[in-house]
Amino acid sequence: MRSASTTLRRICGRHSSPASICSQYRTLATFVERDIVILRQKSNQDNIIVSKPLNPANKINTHKGDISHADIIGKSPRDLVTSSAGHDYRIHTITLAEYVSMTRRLVTPIYPADANLIVSLFDLHSSRADEAEKIEILEAGTGHGALTLHLSRAIHGANTQCPKPAPVSEGTDDLSATEQESTDEQTECDDAVTAWKASRKAVIHTIDISPKYSKHAAKVVAGFRHGLYADNIDFHVGDASAWIKSEHARRDSEEPFLTHAFLDLPATHDHLSAVASALKNDGILIVFNPSITQILDSIQKIKREDISLFLDQTLELGNNGSSGGKPWDLRAVKPRASIKAQTTEHSSDSAQSSGSEAPSETPQELNQAITRDPAQTLKEIKPEDSDWTYVCRPKVGERITGGGFLGIFRKMNNPVRP
Ligand SMILES: C[S@@+](CC[C@H](N)C(=O)[O-])C[C@H]1O[C@@H](n2cnc3c(N)ncnc32)[C@H](O)[C@@H]1O
Repeated sequence: MRSASTTLRRICGRHSSPASICSQYRTLATFVERDIVILRQKSNQDNIIVSKPLNPANKINTHKGDISHADIIGKSPRDLVTSSAGHDYRIHTITLAEYVSMTRRLVTPIYPADANLIVSLFDLHSSRADEAEKIEILEAGTGHGALTLHLSRAIHGANTQCPKPAPVSEGTDDLSATEQESTDEQTECDDAVTAWKASRKAVIHTIDISPKYSKHAAKVVAGFRHGLYADNIDFHVGDASAWIKSEHARRDSEEPFLTHAFLDLPATHDHLSAVASALKNDGILIVFNPSITQILDSIQKIKREDISLFLDQTLELGNNGSSGGKPWDLRAVKPRASIKAQTTEHSSDSAQSSGSEAPSETPQELNQAITRDPAQTLKEIKPEDSDWTYVCRPKVGERITGGGFLGIFRKMNNPVRP
Protein backbone atom coordinates (compact mmCIF):
# COMPACT_ATOMS: atom_id res chain seq x y z
CA MET A 1 0.00 0.00 0.00
CA ARG A 2 1.26 3.48 -0.87
CA SER A 3 1.96 5.78 2.06
CA ALA A 4 -0.16 8.92 2.26
CA SER A 5 2.80 11.10 1.43
CA THR A 6 3.75 9.02 -1.65
CA THR A 7 0.20 9.26 -2.95
CA LEU A 8 0.15 12.97 -2.33
CA ARG A 9 3.48 13.49 -4.02
CA ARG A 10 2.10 11.59 -7.05
CA ILE A 11 -0.93 13.89 -7.19
CA CYS A 12 0.61 17.21 -6.23
CA GLY A 13 4.24 16.64 -7.09
CA ARG A 14 4.07 18.49 -10.39
CA HIS A 15 3.15 21.68 -8.56
CA SER A 16 6.45 21.73 -6.74
CA SER A 17 9.57 22.30 -8.70
CA PRO A 18 12.24 19.77 -7.68
CA ALA A 19 14.32 22.73 -6.57
CA SER A 20 11.67 24.01 -4.20
CA ILE A 21 11.23 20.66 -2.44
CA CYS A 22 14.88 19.80 -2.40
CA SER A 23 15.92 23.21 -1.12
CA GLN A 24 13.91 22.62 2.07
CA TYR A 25 15.72 19.41 2.82
CA ARG A 26 19.09 19.79 1.17
CA THR A 27 22.16 20.32 3.22
CA LEU A 28 23.03 23.97 2.94
CA ALA A 29 25.85 23.33 0.46
CA THR A 30 25.19 26.29 -1.80
CA PHE A 31 22.74 29.15 -1.74
CA VAL A 32 19.80 28.98 -4.13
CA GLU A 33 16.98 31.27 -5.16
CA ARG A 34 14.64 32.26 -2.31
CA ASP A 35 17.24 31.61 0.39
CA ILE A 36 17.61 34.43 2.91
CA VAL A 37 21.21 35.06 3.93
CA ILE A 38 23.17 37.18 6.38
CA LEU A 39 26.11 39.20 5.13
CA ARG A 40 28.84 40.38 7.51
CA GLN A 41 31.31 42.95 6.27
CA LYS A 42 34.75 41.36 6.44
CA SER A 43 36.46 44.46 7.81
CA ASN A 44 33.63 45.33 10.23
CA GLN A 45 31.83 42.31 11.71
CA ASP A 46 29.22 44.60 13.30
CA ASN A 47 27.99 45.65 9.87
CA ILE A 48 25.34 42.99 9.30
CA ILE A 49 22.85 42.83 6.43
CA VAL A 50 19.86 40.47 6.17
CA SER A 51 18.94 39.83 2.55
CA LYS A 52 15.47 39.50 1.06
CA PRO A 53 14.74 36.09 -0.54
CA LEU A 54 17.42 35.72 -3.19
CA ASN A 55 16.30 36.55 -6.71
CA PRO A 56 18.89 36.84 -9.50
CA ALA A 57 17.18 40.01 -10.79
CA ASN A 58 17.62 41.85 -7.47
CA LYS A 59 20.46 43.54 -5.64
CA ILE A 60 21.13 44.83 -2.13
CA ASN A 61 21.86 48.54 -1.91
CA THR A 62 24.30 49.38 0.87
CA HIS A 63 26.29 52.50 1.67
CA LYS A 64 29.34 50.40 0.73
CA GLY A 65 28.03 49.70 -2.78
CA ASP A 66 25.53 47.26 -4.31
CA ILE A 67 25.61 43.49 -3.90
CA SER A 68 23.91 41.48 -6.59
CA HIS A 69 21.79 38.50 -5.45
CA ALA A 70 23.12 36.66 -8.52
CA ASP A 71 26.62 36.90 -7.01
CA ILE A 72 25.40 35.12 -3.85
CA ILE A 73 23.39 32.35 -5.55
CA GLY A 74 25.66 29.34 -6.04
CA LYS A 75 28.08 30.37 -3.30
CA SER A 76 28.56 28.39 -0.05
CA PRO A 77 28.27 29.53 3.58
CA ARG A 78 31.37 31.54 4.60
CA ASP A 79 32.24 32.43 1.00
CA LEU A 80 32.91 36.09 0.24
CA VAL A 81 30.92 38.35 -2.05
CA THR A 82 32.22 41.74 -3.17
CA SER A 83 30.08 44.89 -3.42
CA SER A 84 30.22 47.23 -6.43
CA ALA A 85 32.42 49.54 -4.32
CA GLY A 86 34.93 46.75 -3.63
CA HIS A 87 33.96 45.79 -0.04
CA ASP A 88 34.00 42.13 0.92
CA TYR A 89 31.09 40.53 2.81
CA ARG A 90 31.04 37.01 4.22
CA ILE A 91 27.83 35.09 3.48
CA HIS A 92 26.13 33.12 6.27
CA THR A 93 23.03 30.98 6.55
CA ILE A 94 20.49 32.74 8.75
CA THR A 95 19.63 30.94 11.99
CA LEU A 96 16.09 30.78 13.37
CA ALA A 97 17.07 33.09 16.25
CA GLU A 98 18.56 35.66 13.84
CA TYR A 99 15.57 35.36 11.54
CA VAL A 100 12.86 36.03 14.14
CA SER A 101 14.88 38.83 15.73
CA MET A 102 15.85 40.60 12.50
CA THR A 103 12.76 40.30 10.30
CA ARG A 104 10.44 43.31 10.12
CA ARG A 105 8.02 43.15 13.01
CA LEU A 106 4.63 44.66 13.77
CA VAL A 107 4.41 43.45 17.40
CA THR A 108 6.87 42.50 20.11
CA PRO A 109 7.84 38.87 19.71
CA ILE A 110 8.88 36.31 22.28
CA TYR A 111 12.66 36.45 21.97
CA PRO A 112 14.61 33.34 20.99
CA ALA A 113 16.06 32.54 24.44
CA ASP A 114 12.59 32.74 26.00
CA ALA A 115 11.01 30.81 23.12
CA ASN A 116 13.54 28.02 23.64
CA LEU A 117 12.66 27.91 27.34
CA ILE A 118 8.93 27.74 26.57
CA VAL A 119 9.47 24.91 24.08
CA SER A 120 11.53 23.07 26.68
CA LEU A 121 8.85 23.57 29.38
CA PHE A 122 6.26 22.07 27.02
CA ASP A 123 8.35 18.88 27.03
CA LEU A 124 7.37 17.99 23.47
CA HIS A 125 8.12 14.47 22.29
CA SER A 126 6.89 14.05 18.77
CA SER A 127 6.54 10.74 17.01
CA ARG A 128 5.11 9.54 13.74
CA ALA A 129 4.11 6.21 15.28
CA ASP A 130 0.46 5.37 14.72
CA GLU A 131 -0.17 4.83 18.41
CA ALA A 132 1.47 8.11 19.42
CA GLU A 133 -0.87 10.71 20.91
CA LYS A 134 -1.52 13.55 18.48
CA ILE A 135 0.06 16.79 19.65
CA GLU A 136 -2.30 19.74 19.31
CA ILE A 137 -0.95 23.07 20.50
CA LEU A 138 -2.97 26.26 20.79
CA GLU A 139 -0.98 29.47 20.57
CA ALA A 140 -2.72 32.84 21.13
CA GLY A 141 -1.85 35.46 19.94
CA THR A 142 0.27 34.68 16.95
CA GLY A 143 1.90 38.12 16.96
CA HIS A 144 5.12 38.06 14.95
CA GLY A 145 5.10 34.27 14.57
CA ALA A 146 8.33 33.98 16.55
CA LEU A 147 7.18 31.40 19.08
CA THR A 148 5.12 29.75 16.34
CA LEU A 149 8.30 29.00 14.40
CA HIS A 150 10.12 27.67 17.47
CA LEU A 151 7.19 25.40 18.35
CA SER A 152 6.93 24.19 14.78
CA ARG A 153 10.62 23.32 14.68
CA ALA A 154 10.14 21.27 17.84
CA ILE A 155 7.27 19.17 16.47
CA HIS A 156 8.47 18.98 12.88
CA GLY A 157 9.74 15.39 13.15
CA ALA A 158 6.23 14.10 13.86
CA ASN A 159 4.87 14.94 10.42
CA THR A 160 5.62 13.57 6.99
CA GLN A 161 6.33 16.10 4.26
CA CYS A 162 3.37 17.71 2.56
CA PRO A 163 4.23 17.71 -1.12
CA LYS A 164 2.16 20.77 -1.94
CA PRO A 165 3.95 23.74 -3.49
CA ALA A 166 6.39 25.24 -1.05
CA PRO A 167 5.07 28.58 0.27
CA VAL A 168 6.36 31.45 -1.79
CA SER A 169 8.05 34.32 -0.02
CA GLU A 170 8.01 37.97 -0.97
CA GLY A 171 9.76 38.86 -4.18
CA THR A 172 9.35 35.51 -5.95
CA ASP A 173 7.21 34.76 -8.95
CA ASP A 174 7.30 31.00 -9.34
CA LEU A 175 3.58 30.49 -8.79
CA SER A 176 3.04 30.58 -12.52
CA ALA A 177 3.32 26.79 -12.94
CA THR A 178 0.62 26.25 -10.31
CA GLU A 179 -1.65 28.82 -11.87
CA GLN A 180 -1.54 27.01 -15.19
CA GLU A 181 -2.89 23.74 -13.82
CA SER A 182 -6.46 22.79 -14.62
CA THR A 183 -9.15 23.37 -12.02
CA ASP A 184 -9.84 19.62 -11.65
CA GLU A 185 -6.23 18.81 -10.98
CA GLN A 186 -6.01 21.67 -8.51
CA THR A 187 -9.09 20.43 -6.66
CA GLU A 188 -7.65 16.93 -6.50
CA CYS A 189 -4.45 18.33 -5.09
CA ASP A 190 -6.31 20.53 -2.57
CA ASP A 191 -8.31 17.50 -1.39
CA ALA A 192 -5.11 15.53 -1.00
CA VAL A 193 -3.51 18.33 0.99
CA THR A 194 -6.62 18.51 3.20
CA ALA A 195 -6.32 14.74 3.79
CA TRP A 196 -2.62 15.11 4.57
CA LYS A 197 -3.38 17.92 7.03
CA ALA A 198 -5.90 15.73 8.84
CA SER A 199 -3.29 12.96 9.12
CA ARG A 200 -0.66 15.13 10.84
CA LYS A 201 0.61 13.81 14.18
CA ALA A 202 1.41 17.29 15.48
CA VAL A 203 -0.34 20.59 14.77
CA ILE A 204 -0.07 24.17 15.98
CA HIS A 205 -3.33 26.11 15.96
CA THR A 206 -2.18 29.70 16.14
CA ILE A 207 -4.77 32.44 16.50
CA ASP A 208 -4.63 36.22 16.43
CA ILE A 209 -7.46 38.69 16.66
CA SER A 210 -5.75 40.94 14.12
CA PRO A 211 -5.95 39.83 10.46
CA LYS A 212 -3.01 42.12 9.72
CA TYR A 213 -0.71 40.52 12.31
CA SER A 214 -1.83 37.03 11.36
CA LYS A 215 -1.07 37.66 7.68
CA HIS A 216 2.32 39.11 8.50
CA ALA A 217 3.16 36.17 10.78
CA ALA A 218 2.16 33.69 8.07
CA LYS A 219 4.57 35.47 5.75
CA VAL A 220 7.32 35.39 8.39
CA VAL A 221 6.79 31.64 8.83
CA ALA A 222 6.69 31.02 5.08
CA GLY A 223 9.89 32.98 4.58
CA PHE A 224 12.05 30.82 6.84
CA ARG A 225 13.92 28.16 4.85
CA HIS A 226 11.37 28.10 2.04
CA GLY A 227 8.51 27.41 4.46
CA LEU A 228 10.18 24.37 6.02
CA TYR A 229 8.03 24.62 9.17
CA ALA A 230 4.88 26.15 7.66
CA ASP A 231 2.84 23.00 7.11
CA ASN A 232 2.70 22.10 10.81
CA ILE A 233 0.80 25.33 11.48
CA ASP A 234 -2.84 26.33 10.96
CA PHE A 235 -3.35 30.11 11.14
CA HIS A 236 -6.67 31.41 12.44
CA VAL A 237 -8.01 34.93 12.83
CA GLY A 238 -10.32 35.71 15.74
CA ASP A 239 -10.64 35.70 19.51
CA ALA A 240 -8.87 32.83 21.29
CA SER A 241 -11.84 31.79 23.48
CA ALA A 242 -14.30 32.10 20.60
CA TRP A 243 -12.07 29.88 18.46
CA ILE A 244 -12.05 27.16 21.12
CA LYS A 245 -15.84 27.28 21.29
CA SER A 246 -16.15 27.06 17.52
CA GLU A 247 -13.66 24.22 17.43
CA HIS A 248 -15.71 22.20 19.94
CA ALA A 249 -18.72 22.80 17.66
CA ARG A 250 -16.79 21.87 14.50
CA ARG A 251 -15.62 18.63 16.12
CA ASP A 252 -19.14 18.10 17.43
CA SER A 253 -17.69 17.21 20.82
CA GLU A 254 -17.01 18.80 24.17
CA GLU A 255 -14.03 16.42 24.61
CA PRO A 256 -10.72 18.19 25.27
CA PHE A 257 -8.41 18.06 22.25
CA LEU A 258 -5.40 20.23 23.15
CA THR A 259 -2.23 18.77 24.63
CA HIS A 260 -0.57 22.17 25.09
CA ALA A 261 -1.62 25.82 25.12
CA PHE A 262 0.24 29.11 25.23
CA LEU A 263 -1.31 32.51 25.88
CA ASP A 264 0.48 35.76 25.09
CA LEU A 265 -2.33 38.29 24.81
CA PRO A 266 -4.02 40.93 26.97
CA ALA A 267 -6.25 39.77 29.88
CA THR A 268 -5.03 36.18 29.70
CA HIS A 269 -7.18 35.30 32.71
CA ASP A 270 -10.32 35.87 30.62
CA HIS A 271 -9.35 32.92 28.42
CA LEU A 272 -8.55 30.36 31.13
CA SER A 273 -11.99 28.84 31.29
CA ALA A 274 -12.14 28.24 27.54
CA VAL A 275 -8.59 26.85 27.46
CA ALA A 276 -9.33 24.50 30.38
CA SER A 277 -12.37 23.18 28.49
CA ALA A 278 -10.14 22.20 25.57
CA LEU A 279 -7.00 21.04 27.40
CA LYS A 280 -6.58 17.31 28.00
CA ASN A 281 -5.98 16.01 31.52
CA ASP A 282 -2.45 16.92 32.66
CA GLY A 283 -2.02 19.09 29.55
CA ILE A 284 0.22 22.13 29.96
CA LEU A 285 -0.90 25.73 29.70
CA ILE A 286 1.82 28.39 29.72
CA VAL A 287 0.80 31.99 30.18
CA PHE A 288 3.16 34.88 29.41
CA ASN A 289 2.55 38.10 31.32
CA PRO A 290 4.73 41.20 31.58
CA SER A 291 3.78 41.61 35.26
CA ILE A 292 3.64 39.15 38.13
CA THR A 293 0.31 40.60 39.27
CA GLN A 294 -1.23 39.41 36.01
CA ILE A 295 -0.25 35.86 36.94
CA LEU A 296 -2.05 36.51 40.24
CA ASP A 297 -5.13 37.55 38.26
CA SER A 298 -5.11 34.09 36.69
CA ILE A 299 -4.72 32.34 40.04
CA GLN A 300 -7.61 34.32 41.49
CA LYS A 301 -9.81 33.63 38.50
CA ILE A 302 -9.10 29.90 38.78
CA LYS A 303 -10.01 29.93 42.46
CA ARG A 304 -13.15 32.01 42.09
CA GLU A 305 -14.52 30.06 39.14
CA ASP A 306 -13.28 26.56 40.04
CA ILE A 307 -11.42 26.27 36.77
CA SER A 308 -9.70 22.90 36.55
CA LEU A 309 -6.15 24.21 36.30
CA PHE A 310 -3.43 24.37 38.88
CA LEU A 311 -0.26 26.44 38.90
CA ASP A 312 2.76 24.20 38.61
CA GLN A 313 5.53 26.81 38.39
CA THR A 314 6.07 30.54 38.05
CA LEU A 315 9.21 31.71 36.27
CA GLU A 316 10.65 35.13 35.70
CA LEU A 317 12.26 35.57 32.30
CA GLY A 318 15.58 37.25 31.70
CA ASN A 319 15.77 40.05 29.13
CA ASN A 320 19.44 40.02 28.29
CA GLY A 321 20.00 36.68 26.66
CA SER A 322 20.58 34.97 30.00
CA SER A 323 17.13 33.41 30.18
CA GLY A 324 16.79 30.15 31.98
CA GLY A 325 13.77 31.07 34.02
CA LYS A 326 14.02 32.56 37.48
CA PRO A 327 11.79 30.78 39.98
CA TRP A 328 9.18 32.80 41.88
CA ASP A 329 7.20 31.66 44.89
CA LEU A 330 3.60 32.47 44.02
CA ARG A 331 0.94 30.71 46.05
CA ALA A 332 -2.48 31.18 47.51
CA VAL A 333 -2.24 30.20 51.16
CA LYS A 334 -4.68 29.98 54.03
CA PRO A 335 -3.48 30.92 57.51
CA ARG A 336 -3.62 27.90 59.83
CA ALA A 337 -6.24 29.51 62.07
CA SER A 338 -8.60 29.80 59.14
CA ILE A 339 -8.05 26.17 58.15
CA LYS A 340 -8.80 24.94 61.69
CA ALA A 341 -12.01 26.96 61.75
CA GLN A 342 -13.33 25.12 58.74
CA THR A 343 -15.62 22.20 59.37
CA THR A 344 -15.46 20.72 55.88
CA GLU A 345 -12.60 18.44 55.08
CA HIS A 346 -10.54 19.26 51.99
CA SER A 347 -9.38 16.60 49.60
CA SER A 348 -5.66 16.48 48.83
CA ASP A 349 -6.43 17.56 45.26
CA SER A 350 -8.12 20.72 46.43
CA ALA A 351 -5.21 21.51 48.73
CA GLN A 352 -2.85 21.48 45.75
CA SER A 353 -5.11 23.15 43.25
CA SER A 354 -4.10 26.47 41.72
CA GLY A 355 -0.78 26.21 43.47
CA SER A 356 -2.66 26.51 46.76
CA GLU A 357 -1.52 24.72 49.80
CA ALA A 358 -1.66 24.84 53.54
CA PRO A 359 1.19 27.17 54.51
CA SER A 360 4.40 25.55 55.58
CA GLU A 361 5.47 28.82 57.19
CA THR A 362 4.52 29.93 60.68
CA PRO A 363 2.18 32.99 60.64
CA GLN A 364 5.21 35.19 61.41
CA GLU A 365 7.18 33.73 58.48
CA LEU A 366 4.17 34.12 56.24
CA ASN A 367 3.70 37.76 57.19
CA GLN A 368 7.36 38.37 56.54
CA ALA A 369 7.06 36.77 53.12
CA ILE A 370 4.04 38.82 52.17
CA THR A 371 5.36 42.16 53.37
CA ARG A 372 8.43 41.75 51.18
CA ASP A 373 6.12 42.79 48.35
CA PRO A 374 3.01 44.17 50.02
CA ALA A 375 1.79 46.33 47.14
CA GLN A 376 1.65 43.49 44.66
CA THR A 377 0.38 40.96 47.13
CA LEU A 378 -2.34 42.71 49.05
CA LYS A 379 -3.96 44.92 46.46
CA GLU A 380 -5.15 41.82 44.62
CA ILE A 381 -7.00 40.32 47.58
CA LYS A 382 -10.72 40.90 47.21
CA PRO A 383 -13.11 40.94 50.21
CA GLU A 384 -14.64 37.60 49.19
CA ASP A 385 -11.15 36.08 49.27
CA SER A 386 -10.49 37.22 52.82
CA ASP A 387 -9.65 33.66 53.89
CA TRP A 388 -6.90 33.47 51.31
CA THR A 389 -3.72 35.42 51.11
CA TYR A 390 -0.92 35.34 48.62
CA VAL A 391 2.80 34.71 48.70
CA CYS A 392 4.39 36.64 45.83
CA ARG A 393 8.17 36.82 45.90
CA PRO A 394 11.31 35.82 44.02
CA LYS A 395 12.72 32.58 45.35
CA VAL A 396 15.44 33.39 47.83
CA GLY A 397 19.02 33.56 46.64
CA GLU A 398 18.18 33.83 42.94
CA ARG A 399 19.63 36.39 40.53
CA ILE A 400 17.20 39.14 39.56
CA THR A 401 16.97 40.04 35.89
CA GLY A 402 13.52 40.96 34.46
CA GLY A 403 11.63 40.61 31.19
CA GLY A 404 8.24 39.11 32.04
CA PHE A 405 6.79 36.07 33.74
CA LEU A 406 5.60 32.64 32.79
CA GLY A 407 2.81 30.90 34.67
CA ILE A 408 2.96 27.17 33.95
CA PHE A 409 -0.39 25.52 34.65
CA ARG A 410 -1.56 21.91 34.37
CA LYS A 411 -5.04 20.72 33.63
CA MET A 412 -6.55 18.44 36.24
CA ASN A 413 -9.76 16.57 35.74
CA ASN A 414 -11.09 17.06 39.25
CA PRO A 415 -12.34 20.60 39.68
CA VAL A 416 -11.05 22.91 42.41
CA ARG A 417 -13.17 23.00 45.57
CA PRO A 418 -13.28 26.08 47.77
C1 LIG B 1 2.63 40.27 22.08
S1 LIG B 1 1.79 39.66 20.72
C2 LIG B 1 2.24 37.96 20.68
C3 LIG B 1 3.65 37.73 20.19
C4 LIG B 1 3.96 36.29 19.87
N1 LIG B 1 3.93 35.46 21.06
C5 LIG B 1 5.31 36.12 19.19
O1 LIG B 1 6.16 35.36 19.68
O2 LIG B 1 5.54 36.70 18.15
C6 LIG B 1 0.11 39.62 21.29
C7 LIG B 1 -0.88 39.30 20.18
O3 LIG B 1 -2.14 38.95 20.76
C8 LIG B 1 -3.14 39.34 19.85
N2 LIG B 1 -4.45 39.33 20.56
C9 LIG B 1 -4.96 40.29 21.38
N3 LIG B 1 -6.16 39.89 21.87
C10 LIG B 1 -6.41 38.67 21.35
C11 LIG B 1 -7.49 37.73 21.48
N4 LIG B 1 -8.56 38.00 22.26
N5 LIG B 1 -7.43 36.56 20.81
C12 LIG B 1 -6.36 36.29 20.00
N6 LIG B 1 -5.30 37.14 19.85
C13 LIG B 1 -5.32 38.30 20.51
C14 LIG B 1 -2.67 40.69 19.35
O4 LIG B 1 -3.27 41.05 18.13
C15 LIG B 1 -1.15 40.46 19.23
O5 LIG B 1 -0.77 40.12 17.93
